[in-house]
Amino acid sequence: MATQAQTLLDQLPPERRAEVEERVESLLAELSLEQKVGQLNQLNADFATGTAVGDMDVEQGILDGDIGSVLNFADVEEARHFQELAVEESDHGVPLVLALDVIHGHRTIFPIPLGEAASWNPEMAALSARVAATEAAADGVHWTFAPSVDVGRDPRWGRVMEAAGEDPYLASEISNARVRGFQGEDLAADDTVLACAKHYVGYGASEAGREYNTVDISETNLREVHLPPFEACLDAGVGSVMNAFNLYERIPASSNETLVNDLLRSELGFEDVVVSDWNSFGELVEHGVAGDLREVARACIEAGSDVDMVSGAYATELVELVEDGVVDESLVDAAVRRLLTVKGALGLFEDPYRYFDEERQSRRILTEDHREAAREVARESQVLLKNESDVLPVDDGASVALVGGLADSATDMLGAWRAEGDPDDVTTLRTTLADRLDDLTYVEGCSRDGAVDDAQLAAAVEAVTAADLAVVAVGERYSQTGEAASRAHLDLPGDQRRLLEALVETDTPVAAVLFNGRPLAIDWTAEHVPAILEAWFPGVEAGPAIADVLLGEYNPSGRLPMCFPVTEGQIPIYYNRLRTGRPAENADVDLTEPPADPAEKYMSRYLDVPNEPLYAFGHGETYTEFTYTDVSLDTATITSADTLSVTVTVENTGERSGTEVVQVYLNDLVASRARPVRELVRFENVDLDAGEAATVSFELTAADLEFWTADDEYAAEPGEFEVQVGRAADDIVAVETFELVE
Ligand code: BGC
Repeated sequence: MATQAQTLLDQLPPERRAEVEERVESLLAELSLEQKVGQLNQLNADFATGTAVGDMDVEQGILDGDIGSVLNFADVEEARHFQELAVEESDHGVPLVLALDVIHGHRTIFPIPLGEAASWNPEMAALSARVAATEAAADGVHWTFAPSVDVGRDPRWGRVMEAAGEDPYLASEISNARVRGFQGEDLAADDTVLACAKHYVGYGASEAGREYNTVDISETNLREVHLPPFEACLDAGVGSVMNAFNLYERIPASSNETLVNDLLRSELGFEDVVVSDWNSFGELVEHGVAGDLREVARACIEAGSDVDMVSGAYATELVELVEDGVVDESLVDAAVRRLLTVKGALGLFEDPYRYFDEERQSRRILTEDHREAAREVARESQVLLKNESDVLPVDDGASVALVGGLADSATDMLGAWRAEGDPDDVTTLRTTLADRLDDLTYVEGCSRDGAVDDAQLAAAVEAVTAADLAVVAVGERYSQTGEAASRAHLDLPGDQRRLLEALVETDTPVAAVLFNGRPLAIDWTAEHVPAILEAWFPGVEAGPAIADVLLGEYNPSGRLPMCFPVTEGQIPIYYNRLRTGRPAENADVDLTEPPADPAEKYMSRYLDVPNEPLYAFGHGETYTEFTYTDVSLDTATITSADTLSVTVTVENTGERSGTEVVQVYLNDLVASRARPVRELVRFENVDLDAGEAATVSFELTAADLEFWTADDEYAAEPGEFEVQVGRAADDIVAVETFELVE
């Protein structure tokens, strides 16, 4: 909370910093007003996620000095061509920045970000971003529009797949690691790219989970829930931030001075580039807060937003606005200075072609090491949701029937936002199991779209009946998740449930493998299918990584970064809910039954479903057992200058080595604003051999107790707090209390 950003200039060694600053200032003095405005104009050269306003030709625009950055170019050859036009043929010779959405891998595709967050291991996030940056930088990319850090509490929203889930703390840890991975130690190195924290801010709160919909959140909610992952990115030195599409206080994020100039720049100290989202400047007109592009351009530059992605508002209006005395030229200069500083930090003034090296491209893309990293991350991101009667792992020598089109669908394994990902690079679950099992039968049973016909169903039932175990791949298509992919129904699409119903009728145990980009409402499956492994969209190494878990070569260690609801009607549902005046959870009432009398009725509950999710935040099973003992605090009282130590002993009491994710939550019992029932403040992955025990300690300080108080400031208020230690948000094993005194 209340972070201070590490700016790009701060990150440079003093000599380089002086060089960059000098170069930027001399360029600013040389460029005409038209050329400066041109720097702020970003154009698209390939794939599009919406309509662009304006009709500027990219090549001509570069030649005329009317474009400062390009997104979505085709390949290194095209990137080099554009750069040559900018550096050698335009009047000013300022290099371009080339941008692409490299979200979870460039060519070596890793699990979708939500899946990666399920590893609860920031080092996995750093590793995948590092590999992605190495490949992207070898393929001509300077700037990725990642990480997405939107806190997502509504699984109907397709973009929850892009970020790190429902919790501000976990999302902060993961997002910080992603920035470190992308940007590395030196942005000018040939294996790093500029990161972009997006979408600033509150986009995850789109009403009803509908894409591009209204957001209406309080300042407290903004600061407590949606802002922390951005602060974590600023701490990591992120060099750019993207405006969100949504409103805050009914003003679009792109033209929202409170968000950009006041909060991001003045309060948090961010001095680098703010880029719009796709035509988010132009959309001010649709929002009804600007009458035309002239009003758009004025509002956005005054708010502090620098680069205009494809709306053309700056390109067509800013020069005149300055000439008419409406916009002060110093605002244009400040925005251009920030973009030129990015170019300097990327080393583009010394060598504008450093990212376009065909030789490096062939050496650095889709290497064996990168594939191995993708497999490691994909293994760690799987979550064993349930495993009744130890159905998994597959017994040695068992005959297995594999069913489901998704088990053999290369393209779906890449998920949405796949950059240069190629389905031909993917090893599917079917391919791997065919290789690793002696007795495997594959029957499609249901298409990857979820369509089941009678003949397929009969063939699947026959194969499963004859096998010792059925592994059934079910879930969503990759295109049902991501941007512009909201779903109101979160059950398994199509007839997949019909398939499962038929298979559980056989005597053969069934293990479902789920492919999906969001929590699903799968209460029927959870009740009837004995084992469920959540695999998300795992990337190029889908097959090997899932087989490692199914065959017991890797003991699943992932934990949910978002709750799975029982039904869509519970949404939004998240573990760190605020207290209500009539809490049902503390009452001695069975919420799975309809209320029997008024005492059971007039409380915050449903008549027809429980309040609790199907699977809670932090949930995940393993092939072993962990027990917790000796949870203790080193003191019962701290002052704001002290440190509190929380200690717990964890023992692996099962028969396999495994990893336990020890979770520490806080509960501020009385405060000036209502506080969540629990909030994650620390976690640690503890690797333990069978029979091994370890004592784990967590240090907390008053900074962990801070929140946005009723005095509108960040502070820790004296009083009593609970420390809750557990395996999941709904599986707290011990609660200890302490007091913060003045
Ligand atoms: C998305 C951004 C993305 C941009 C450029 C937009 O539609 O919201 O996340 O970076 O397109 O592709």
